[in-house]
Amino acid sequence: MKQIKIVGNKLLSGEIHIGGAKNSAVALIPATLLSEEVCTINNVPNISDRDALLDILDTLNVKVEYHGTSVTIDPTKLENNTISEAQSNKLRASYYFMGVLLARFGYVEMFYPGGCNIGSRPIDLHLKGFEALGAKITHDEKNHKYIVKADKLTGARIKLNFASVGATINIMFAATLASGTTVIENAAKETEIINIADYLNKMGAKISGAGTSKITITGVTSLHSAEIDVIPDRIEAGTYIIIGSLLGKNLKVCGVNFDHITALLNKLNDMNIKYVIDNDTITISKSEDIHPINITTLVYPGFPTDLGQPMSVLLTQANGVSLFEETIWENRMGHVPHLNKMGANIELKDNTHAIIHGPTKLKGSDINATDLRGGAALVIAGLIAEGTTTINNIEYILRGYENIINKLKKVGADIKIIDNKE
Ligand code: EPZ
Repeated sequence: MKQIKIVGNKLLSGEIHIGGAKNSAVALIPATLLSEEVCTINNVPNISDRDALLDILDTLNVKVEYHGTSVTIDPTKLENNTISEAQSNKLRASYYFMGVLLARFGYVEMFYPGGCNIGSRPIDLHLKGFEALGAKITHDEKNHKYIVKADKLTGARIKLNFASVGATINIMFAATLASGTTVIENAAKETEIINIADYLNKMGAKISGAGTSKITITGVTSLHSAEIDVIPDRIEAGTYIIIGSLLGKNLKVCGVNFDHITALLNKLNDMNIKYVIDNDTITISKSEDIHPINITTLVYPGFPTDLGQPMSVLLTQANGVSLFEETIWENRMGHVPHLNKMGANIELKDNTHAIIHGPTKLKGSDINATDLRGGAALVIAGLIAEGTTTINNIEYILRGYENIINKLKKVGADIKIIDNKE
C-alpha cells in the first residue's frame, strides 16, 4: 500500500505544466474504435485511467503504440471480445465502449462501470439514448451487466432530462454510424465534448452544435484515420491555481486555456485573490486576505463539480464563513471529515451542503483519500498544513493527476510517495 507523505507549509515557485484533460482523453481513446483506420491522439495525460483504457483496447485486439505523450491506436483488427468485469469496474469511462461497440457491431455486453464513490452513478440516460436509436437493452442484474443489441441504429431526436456529459458523448458515439440524423437536446456543453466532436469530425463524422445544448449528428457509413490534441485539463489547472493562491511565490501554471476556467477565475476575483495572466500562463502568489464566498457547483459553464472539493480547502483559509453546495453528485463531501481531523472547521449540513468557517490552521495528520478530487483536496490540505501529513488510498489521486508528485516537488513541495511496508 502506497501513501503520499507531505511536509507542509513550503512556499512554491517555478513552473507547473498542465497535461491533457483526463475527461477528454478517456472518451477520445474509445472514440478511435469508431474508425476503421489507425488514429493518433496527442497530449494524452499519463494517468492510471489511461492505462486502464489501453488495457481494455488490448482485450479488443487493438494495437497501441506510444511516442512520448502521443498514442497511436490501430483498430483494424478490432474484435468484440468481452471486457471483463474487473476491467470495466476500474473506471467510469469504460461505459464509452458501449456506444462505440454498439455502433461498430450492433451488439455489446458490458459489465457495470466503476469510478469514484461520489454517490449513485446510474447510466439510464445512456441506455435510453441507445434505445431511442433502435437498440434493445437487457439488464442482467444477476451478472452485473447490460446487453445492448441493434440490427440497425436509426437517427432520432433525444431529449436528455439532465445534461449528462457521459450520456451526451455515448449517444454521439452510437449516432455517428447510425442511418439518418440524431438530435441531442439538453446536451452537456462541457469543453471536453467539443474536443471529442472535433475528433470525430476529423475522422469523417458529421456533427454540429457541440458545446451548445443542441447537437446534431448525421450518420455516416464509416470513419477514417485522424489525429487530435487533447485539450488542456481545466480541473488539473484549477487545482494548481488553488495551490498557488495558498502557497505560491510567483508560481506559474502554464498551458492553461483560460476560456475554460472562467467560473473559477470569477470566484478567485470575488475572494480577493490576485493573479496575472499572460497568454496561456497564470502567475499567482499566496494570498493574505482571502474573502469568504459561496460556491454552488453546476454544469458547464457553471462552477465545475470537479473543483468543488479542492476549492473547499481554499475556503478553510478565508476570513469568515463560506457555503459550499454540490448539485451534480449525491455525495462529494467524503474529504470533509479528514479536513476536520486536520483542524478545519467544516459543518456538514447533509451530503451536499457544507458550511466552512475560516480561517483555520491545519496540522499534519494521517488521512484517507475517498475519491479523486477529494484526494486532491487532501493533498492541498497537506501542503498548507504545519507538520507531516500521510495520505492513504492514493490510487484515487493517481487516476486523474498526471505526475502530481513530481510536478509539486519541482516547484519546492516536500512531497513523496512511500511504501508503508518500508
Ligand atoms: C463526467 O462524469 C466526469 N467523468 C466527472 O468527472 C464529472 O464530475 C462529471 O462528468 C460532471 O462534469 C468523466 O468524464 C469520466 P454526468 P459523467 O453523466 O459523465 C446523473 C472527475 O472527478 N446521471 O454528467 O459520468 C449522475 O448520477 C469525475 O474527474 C444520471 O442520473 O457525469 C450525476 O448526478 C467525477 N443518469 C449527474 O447526472 C445517467 O445516465 C451528472 O453525471 C447519467 C448521469
